Amino acid sequence: MGGGRGLRCARAWVHGFALVVVMLAAACSSGSDGSSTGATANPTPPVKECGAHGGDCRLRAVAAAADLRVGTAVQTGPLADEAAYRGTVGREFNSITAENDMKWPTIHPAADRYDFAAADAVVGFAADHDMEVRGHTLLWGQTEYTTVPDYVANATGPDELRAYVDDHITTVVRRYRGRVQRWDVVNEPLDTVGTAMENNVFLRLLGEGYIADAFRTAHRADPAAELWLNEAVLETLPAKAQAFADLVTRLVADKVPIDGIGLQTHLLAGVPDPVAFRALVRRFADLGLDVAITEMDLPAGTGPDRLERQARGYATTIGACLAVPRCREVTFWGFTDRHTWIDDFLGPGHDPLLFDRDYQPKPAYSAVREQLAARR
Ligand code: XIL
Repeated sequence: MGGGRGLRCARAWVHGFALVVVMLAAACSSGSDGSSTGATANPTPPVKECGAHGGDCRLRAVAAAADLRVGTAVQTGPLADEAAYRGTVGREFNSITAENDMKWPTIHPAADRYDFAAADAVVGFAADHDMEVRGHTLLWGQTEYTTVPDYVANATGPDELRAYVDDHITTVVRRYRGRVQRWDVVNEPLDTVGTAMENNVFLRLLGEGYIADAFRTAHRADPAAELWLNEAVLETLPAKAQAFADLVTRLVADKVPIDGIGLQTHLLAGVPDPVAFRALVRRFADLGLDVAITEMDLPAGTGPDRLERQARGYATTIGACLAVPRCREVTFWGFTDRHTWIDDFLGPGHDPLLFDRDYQPKPAYSAVREQLAARR
């Protein structure tokens, strides 16, 4: 309520990004501060299982014992410059995602030029720290903001675009064969807030089949890699979730080589009802697919107990996913409040992640660890 929320909502509208608009529209109208629903668990009990691992209570140790991936997005700036950033990533996580450095404009800025430097740094870090890599992302066509370089956006016909796409997917996936275990092959295929396919350059020139083709091309480039379809705000928008499930059903029926569904789970509109979230996860599991939370963050809201409520929000949502056996991974969109896209997106002060700005674990850290341990 009050000035804080008003300011937050206004700022989001100024940003003019459809994703934020829909999320904050929900937050503004419902009165949710993004962290207050239906949680019951004590967020900070000790993990009993730590004893079974020689006292190793790191997230990645607890996750590994349950055959789970616990991941974080990383930014190459702090990965190069900050020892505490590097140390925390390597210690706590067994999977990483490049927050931006494998996206098309970065890795393939001109039709005849690739730039692998930043992506190589991420993949090299993973190899040095015995981590897996979730590759993000091969095809992402958004109409509201730039997700493809101009030469792709301005392709004049299907043949030209198909040639770019085939070359892009084949080159990138082949380069990282054996080093990137999972790819988000297509990101956000649906309209951010609606039920239609996102009207991007791929859909306009190639039709819906661009999605199936992308998976088939990626599979040829690395038959061993897991191939995933990643989508946003399904936990908030039931009609969109239905349209997305219909799309996935078509892909499965067409025998497209798809292994899993990524739920971004940026909880900017509040914590989803855990029963509904578990049902969402189960829907994809019932289609024979794995499911992952791929980009989780949760603004802390306001009030003296904001971090405890945030911890409960993390716990109920992750617990709902992990209650379904095919939910195999939880990846956060960063790990320290010092480096989070939410600062640019909503403005500073939302503290959405597991560690504070000084790399100290927050209540959310223990709450997440407890959920990972409970899966065993
Ligand atoms: C975001 C990054 O975090 C920002 O640094 C960048 O400016 C824009 O993209 N859904 C996705 C991610 O799939 O790739 C987005 O990452 C966040 C929303």
